Order: sequence, then structure tokens, then C-alpha cells
Amino acid sequence: MSLFSQALAARSSLLHADTDAVRLIDGAGDGLPGVYLETFASHWLVSTTGASVPAVVADWLRQQPRSIYHKCLSQQQKESPTHFHGPRVDAPFLARENGVNFEISFHSGYSQGIFLDQRDNRQRVRSRVQKGDTVLNTFAYTGVFSVFGALGGAQTTTLDLSQPYLDWAKRNFSHNQLDPLEHHFCKGDTFHWLRRFEKQGRKFHGIILDPPTFSRDEKGTVFRVENDYGALANLAHRCLHPGGWILCSTNCHKLHPKDFERQLRAALPRRSQFTHTPMPPDFTDTPYLKSVWVEC
Ligand SMILES: C[S@@+](CC[C@H](N)C(=O)[O-])C[C@H]1O[C@@H](n2cnc3c(N)ncnc32)[C@H](O)[C@@H]1O
Repeated sequence: MSLFSQALAARSSLLHADTDAVRLIDGAGDGLPGVYLETFASHWLVSTTGASVPAVVADWLRQQPRSIYHKCLSQQQKESPTHFHGPRVDAPFLARENGVNFEISFHSGYSQGIFLDQRDNRQRVRSRVQKGDTVLNTFAYTGVFSVFGALGGAQTTTLDLSQPYLDWAKRNFSHNQLDPLEHHFCKGDTFHWLRRFEKQGRKFHGIILDPPTFSRDEKGTVFRVENDYGALANLAHRCLHPGGWILCSTNCHKLHPKDFERQLRAALPRRSQFTHTPMPPDFTDTPYLKSVWVEC
């Protein structure tokens, strides 16, 4: 059996009527360093750390009866994928995760609409919320965490710097027969909004934090996950109902899980309970994503 068929066979149980978006090849975890393959509703996206697809992988991909796009994983260029093989996919399309629809686009920049490494956390949000809970999804991107919360019965607030991503999030609500008008969408900076919510006395039963590893706001203030996550978690905690939860997540490769927890413990009340959750099973390379559920 080739490395390719082994990797695909290992994921077969994850792909079913309810889920058609999965990582099929995860670099060194599947014996193919620097090569990552994801399927979205049967269209494939191959991402490579090198500028081109290695020949052996390219030969195999060209035998596949499907649309395939290629993306070069470069922090400098951050470009949309380019067409690689099969019929072109020019329009956005729907993919599914655990019965939830979300919109994917191969033409909207470096990211395609969802980060598959958060699949299990999204399910955890849906099963954790009670009907009528309030959930704040910060750094929300296309709002898929919010959709899972809303499907679990929560009233959600989706917060992101980008209006196009908030519009995408609203479409993701509509793709699941949820009325975006029954939920809140806030455009702007998470730090600013958390301070504003605190001043207003607005509190949530659950808060999702999944910030970029590094950012600088319009005043030049720098946020680095390695140094500043505790301050972010502390701000969020001030907007949390007693007994509520915060999902603290980061994809910062450099940050060790113990250092992450240490930062969180220093910033949050002593009585808080910390639970680490693993990455989904299709992510077999380095477990870079750290997720800590804090109950305060
Ligand atoms: C890594 S993605 C977050 C992924 C998201 N949590 C998910 O699982 O789909 C980063 C998102 O954070 C947003 N963002 C970056 N800095 C922000 C800030 N200071 N306040 C609010 N949103 C921010 C970006 O616009 C982008 O949509």
C-alpha cells in the first residue's frame, strides 16, 4: 500500500455523510514532510512548504478524478490557491462538518473559510452550551464556532476585525437555517470590545479565544501569544458569568503547553479548572494546536 492510500485509508472513518472536510495528508505525520492535503466536499487543496508540489505527489494527484488546488505555505506571500488539476472551482461552495454547512472559497485569499484543526473544539462548543446561553466568539474569522454554538441553542456574538469575514459568518448562519438577525456581529478589535463589554457589564456564559500568534493594533500595541495570552484571558474573564467557560486556543508552535497553562493560571482565578483537549485524529504531524478549556 502506498503512503497515499495508507493516509486516505486512515481517515476513511472520519469522512461520512455529515463530514466531508478532513485533512487527508498531514506532512511528516504521514511520511510526507511539507505536504498537506485537505478535502472539502470532494474538492482537494494541497498545501506545500516548498514553492511547488513534489513530483511524486504531483504524479499521484494528477491521476485523481477531481478538482485540485495548490497553495504555497508562505508567511510572506499569503496568496490564494492556484488551480492544479481537474475542473476549475470558480464559485464558493458548501462543505460539511458534523452536519453543519460552511462556505469554502478557493479565491478569497490565503485561508479558505475554515480551520479544520478546530473541528473537535467546535463540536465541544455545541455540546457544552445550554439553550439560552450567551457565547462570545472572538477573532471569529468566518464564524463557524458561532454557528456550532447557535445550533446548540446559544445566543452568539461574533467578533472580528474584518467586515468581509463577518459577512461570510452571516452567510454561514444562513447556510444552516439560522437567522443572523437573531445573533450579534461586532466589527473591531477584540481587546477594545472586551474592555467595552466589561464597562457595560455585559457577560457571557462561554468565550472563545483563538488569536493570531502575533498582531499589532492601529496604535502600534503588539500582542504576542507567548507573552500576552494571560492578559487576553484575564480581560475575557472579566466578561464571563460566574461558572462560565473560556476556550483558550493557540496555534503558536513555539509555545509549550505547560508554559501556556502557566500563563493562564497566573492570569485567572485560583479556583479555575483547566482541561487540555487534543487535536483531531487526522492531524498526525506535530500537535501545534493547544486548546485549554478553563472553567472559572
Ligand atoms: C487565526 S484566525 C481565527 C480562527 C478562528 N478562531 C477559527 O477557528 O475559525 C484570525 C482571525 O482573527 C481576526 N483578527 C485578528 N486580529 C484581531 C483583533 N485584534 N480583533 C479581532 N479580530 C482579529 C482576523 O481578521 C481573522 O479573521
